[in-house]
Amino acid sequence: MKTSLFVVALLLGLSTALRPGDLACRKKSTRHIPTVHKTHLTAAPLPANFVWNNVNGVNYLTNLRNQHIPQYCGSCWAHASTSALSDRIKIARKAQWPDVNISPQVVISCSLNDDGCHGGDGLSAFEFMHNNNITDETCSIYQARGHDNGIECAPINVCKNCKPDGTPCFIPEEYRVFGVEEYGNVTGEAAMMQEIYQRGPIACAIAVPDSLESYTGGIYFDQSGDQNLVHEISVVGFGVENGTKYWHVRNSWGTHWGESGFFRVVRGVNNIGIESDCAWATPKDTWTNPQWHKTTDEEQSDPRNNKYNFNEANKPQDSFLDKQRGTCKRVPKNQFKLGQKRPEQMAWETLDVSALPANWDWRNINGTSYVSWSRNQHIPIYCGSCWAHGTTSALADRFNILLKDHNPTPVGLNPQVMVNCLAGGDCGGGDPSGVYDYAYQYGIPDSSCEQYVARDLDKPQCQPIDICRDCRGPPPAEGQSGIENCWAVTNYKRYYASNYYSVSGADQMKAELYKNGPIACGIDATDGLEAYMGGIYSEYSDYPMINHEISVVGYGFDEATQTEYWVGRNSWGTYWGENGFFRIKMHSDNLGIENDCIAALPSFKPSQAETVFTQYM
Ligand SMILES: *[C@@H]1O[C@H](CO)[C@@H](O)[C@H](O)[C@H]1NC(C)=O
Ligand SMILES: *[C@@H]1O[C@H](CO)[C@@H](O)[C@H](O)[C@H]1NC(C)=O
Ligand SMILES: *[C@@H]1O[C@H](CO)[C@@H](O)[C@H](O)[C@H]1NC(C)=O
Ligand SMILES: *[C@@H]1O[C@H](CO)[C@@H](O)[C@H](O)[C@H]1NC(C)=O
Repeated sequence: MKTSLFVVALLLGLSTALRPGDLACRKKSTRHIPTVHKTHLTAAPLPANFVWNNVNGVNYLTNLRNQHIPQYCGSCWAHASTSALSDRIKIARKAQWPDVNISPQVVISCSLNDDGCHGGDGLSAFEFMHNNNITDETCSIYQARGHDNGIECAPINVCKNCKPDGTPCFIPEEYRVFGVEEYGNVTGEAAMMQEIYQRGPIACAIAVPDSLESYTGGIYFDQSGDQNLVHEISVVGFGVENGTKYWHVRNSWGTHWGESGFFRVVRGVNNIGIESDCAWATPKDTWTNPQWHKTTDEEQSDPRNNKYNFNEANKPQDSFLDKQRGTCKRVPKNQFKLGQKRPEQMAWETLDVSALPANWDWRNINGTSYVSWSRNQHIPIYCGSCWAHGTTSALADRFNILLKDHNPTPVGLNPQVMVNCLAGGDCGGGDPSGVYDYAYQYGIPDSSCEQYVARDLDKPQCQPIDICRDCRGPPPAEGQSGIENCWAVTNYKRYYASNYYSVSGADQMKAELYKNGPIACGIDATDGLEAYMGGIYSEYSDYPMINHEISVVGYGFDEATQTEYWVGRNSWGTYWGENGFFRIKMHSDNLGIENDCIAALPSFKPSQAETVFTQYM
């Protein structure tokens, strides 16, 4: 990474390489000192090693992001604080489905005591989330632009939805909201350890010496004495290795940096200033009685929305497909380019389906949720990428199962790369099977490699920079792309499929779900399904017209109505259905969900085919 930064700097003729840390994404607010709400913690006995990604085998950490994509933004402070809050919500909810990813975008647009992409302060972000409701990322996806460079605090930027017909984007009628109960600051090794152990991750300011930029692993120990607090991270644990005490830290520079996006730094000597200025916050309980915000007419008609309701880019061109409702124009038939790559035995050939459990739901297997977080393919503008979402979700869930949920952070695979590289199609629709062809041939990067922008690539073929990227400052001004400060990352982890194949019919689906995990299925997205708000859905249709792709994550049996059903995951945000998921009747009246499914087996090793195919890349 250091070398690539240096080369980029040379090419651009800069005298010194600019690094994210140099740009002070962390700035103490001078305009405002937040009121501190303080709960007194009594000292508890502490274990020697404690990290929230593995507490008695349970991973309480949420998604790990890269703040610098699709273009540079000095939003470390918003990432450190929203990650810590998301983790604490997961802790409070005992890691049960669903993960809530609090939106850093709302913070950089709306926390006006901070400077958006030009820097801010985690404590001030917590104050903002105390005084205002905050939404999840399926309402407001990260766009790496704040009120300072293009995305202001309009109501539509707090929660948004866009339709396939090209009509202006709008605010959903109702959406889930979250918030901060109490918040405060904490300094010093002992108090930080108590806060982390008793309540969860905290956000801390740090210095960024050159050697931290080029960190690749181990326990970091800066010898330069740098205490210039220009960056903010979240501390998620502590430990001792070979007699050296360290902090376990989550960064927001992508999983390709450091130890899967994390680093460890010596503890107890205020190295890089990490023990000098931290902030904590407790989440409001907005889940025991879910808090829904009802959009007001004033919010919906706020003139500030007009700058952000643009939805022309992916207006469907095809008049036949135009008529398909709620659709992403998913190509009806799965046609694997390379043919199926079936394992020696299929799940349904080895299992007695009648002997399977009546309920099997990967959101809760023996108390553990293996499903990745919910997404929304329709923001920031409409994009018909269901074919990339249903498939990458199902495969990501299978990696979480393969790793027994013991990966450093939950795995999410990248739908934007599938759109960029035309794996199965683009924002105008596509064939889901192309995603598994791609996983087999090249491997799919995780979500921190490319930000989902819901747009087609502006060139005919994807380049390495469209598969995994990083960017450096300064933050581009409004109207400027900042792409000249971005480069391709090549050392990213690739998530492969060793096999992939078609699945259809209730018996095959059940066996496949039980043995291997979630699958991707076509469905007819009717007006009725669009309007679904919960319960076990059913709708009769003579000839379901498959125009949408979702993932099926389980099945169950409802005692009250004696009905067997599927548990599906959609990609229409958490304000749709049951937190973005749905249940639908099994065997009949289910919009063709059993007709055309595909599945892939996860693997970290390239298939033999890769050597053949890479030469054509
Ligand atoms: C919290 O911040 C205030 C203002 O900067 C400071 O005076 C105080 O000492 C800090 N408290 C702790 C526990 O760090
Ligand atoms: C601790 O010691 C082991 C064995 O020598 C070594 O493999 C490991 O890398 C060391 N850990 C650190 C953080 O230096
Ligand atoms: C948050 O939203 C809830 C539900 O709409 C509302 O009752 C509450 O007043 C809001 N709180 C703030 C601080 O805006
Ligand atoms: C769930 O728990 C049961 C009983 O402890 C065990 O037999 C089974 O293997 C577990 N299933 C999974 C998928 O972990």
